Amino acid sequence: MLSKQQAKMLFLIGTFVTFAVFIGLTIYSLSLVDEEQPALSEAAARGKHIWEKNNCMGCHTILGEGAYYAPELTNVIERRGEAFVKAVLMSDQPWAPNGRKMVAYGMSEQDANDVVEFFKWTNQLNLNGFEYVDRKVSPLAIKKVK
Ligand code: HEC
Repeated sequence: MLSKQQAKMLFLIGTFVTFAVFIGLTIYSLSLVDEEQPALSEAAARGKHIWEKNNCMGCHTILGEGAYYAPELTNVIERRGEAFVKAVLMSDQPWAPNGRKMVAYGMSEQDANDVVEFFKWTNQLNLNGFEYVDRKVSPLAIKKVK
């Protein structure tokens, strides 16, 4: 059984040690951040706004974050090409070759170009070795894909 004095010391030392570890790991993490990320152009910023306003992350992931209903889009430009992405965004019919429906946004060419600029930007980001899952459909839909 610890005396009151010992318990107090244990608490203080424990708090101090974990706090020091926390500060150390924070400094280490910050030392890994690469400051030189590509700038967000005005068009890409408009695209990002469209991305947020329409809650695309309610179905898609980007940089590994979001929902798992639809494909990860961080590198969609590299994977699919600009024309394909524009066609999906401008279509007035739901794009659904794999059984799940992408919203038929029927975007204007201007809006689709802005979203494409946003995807070009995410594709260029230095992710410090983080590997997003390069999958074309959600794992839940994979059984349906021939
Ligand atoms: C209701 C869910 C949902 C929302 C919201 C949604 N999507 Fe999709 N999207 C899908 C699904 C499902 C697919 C895959 C369709 C398929 O391949 O069968 C898809 C496919 C795509 C593709 C083609 C990806 C590929 O690899 O083939 C792009 C690009 C895309 N969406 C962009 C967007 C953008 C930008 C937004 C927001 C403006 C958005 N999506 C919002 C469900 C959604």
